[in-house]
Amino acid sequence: MSGIVLIGAQWGDEGKGKIVDFLAENADVIVRFQGGNNAGHTLVVKDKKIILHLIPSGILRENKVCIIGNGVVIDPGVLFKELKVLTENGLLSKSTSLYISSSAHVIMPYHKLIDTLRENIAVTKIGTTGRGIGPAYEDKVSRAGIRVADLLYPELLKEKLKTILEEKNLYITKVLGGDPFDFSTVFEESVRFGEMIKPYVADTVEHLNKYIRERKNILFEGAQGTMLDVDHGTYPFVTSSNTVAGNASIGSGVPISAINKIVGVVKAYTTRVGNGPFPTEEKSSIGDYLREKGGEYGATTGRPRRCGWIDLVSLRRAIMINGIDRIVITKLDVLNELDNIKVCVGYKYQNKEIETIPFGLNQIEVCTPVYREFKGWKKNISHIRDGIDLPVEAKDYLKFIEDYLETKIAMVSVGAERNENIVFENII
Ligand code: IMP
Repeated sequence: MSGIVLIGAQWGDEGKGKIVDFLAENADVIVRFQGGNNAGHTLVVKDKKIILHLIPSGILRENKVCIIGNGVVIDPGVLFKELKVLTENGLLSKSTSLYISSSAHVIMPYHKLIDTLRENIAVTKIGTTGRGIGPAYEDKVSRAGIRVADLLYPELLKEKLKTILEEKNLYITKVLGGDPFDFSTVFEESVRFGEMIKPYVADTVEHLNKYIRERKNILFEGAQGTMLDVDHGTYPFVTSSNTVAGNASIGSGVPISAINKIVGVVKAYTTRVGNGPFPTEEKSSIGDYLREKGGEYGATTGRPRRCGWIDLVSLRRAIMINGIDRIVITKLDVLNELDNIKVCVGYKYQNKEIETIPFGLNQIEVCTPVYREFKGWKKNISHIRDGIDLPVEAKDYLKFIEDYLETKIAMVSVGAERNENIVFENII
């Protein structure tokens, strides 16, 4: 049995979707444990581009169990739209099932409005995806959330929603200057979603722990990235959930002992969408090159991503916090045409060179990167399947990353297609 957690080691958009889809071949169960449809996992299967926001990427395979765990926040409208697209494209296999935790929280229409209204008037804008993620998690923690199970009991939901909506409408109109929600509209839509979601709702904790006893391979699919973690990221420019590996246990209800491998996905360069510190950002032609070659536009919002060089200082911290024991490098092919490639190996901070993120994460804002420069390989590498065939410059680049991070690279992705990978070691 393997319990494998796959997480993003940067600011999200590391290319996790493709890797989860690849690893899902040998997994029995694929689980989302945090976040919501702020994520956008892009997969290319037979030249078809599919973007999944909520449903685990394993859904595209045969004979799998996909689980949306208790730690996820679910926008039912998005869930059913995604299921519809998959069905219309003939991508839903009858042999693969989807279970949704009855304890997962629901993103309600007022969460989405509050998210956008707040961003509009905020002095310090986070640059959220506007999907209602933060407000939904806030309600979870303040015990004013609506859970999936609530949607199944209209009479109880009515009572609960009445009180909550009254308070939300006051906040929306008096503080944020928005229009109030009509109770009947919100209630009736919620009941309709309840009827639609019912066939998928399960006690996913019981299911998962049964799979553990049956020694199945379980793959926990992280969303966003370590540096967007609400505790460990570049606060306040973070998302509202714990994106690190430790949350796989809490967000799905499995014991920590069920997890025995942690894989960090690392893009061969860095991107960030939304506001907040990003020491290796290149607001230059290099940044433009990476954005265009890498197709670095948000899978969820379409926003252009900020681009820059790989940052080994923040990656070292990600390795430490998550306990990453294997790395997957993605999008190495995007660097194909560059004459020189930079790697951030330290920060200049208060006239000193440091190799750790300075105390108080917001101090990262005043750091400037210290680079080591590598020669580019200037060749197409997308056809390569055996690491031996990589140009020597690419080997040097990868070896340096591996040595600096003291962590083995298990796989390198060299193209968007499912099979465009160099596998050094089987992860599952
Ligand atoms: P929220 O998660 O929508 O509240 O957004 C908070 C921050 O996280 C913003 O900077 C978003 O751009 C960022 N973010 C949220 N989800 C993702 C993701 O899947 N990839 C990259 N950035 C994300």
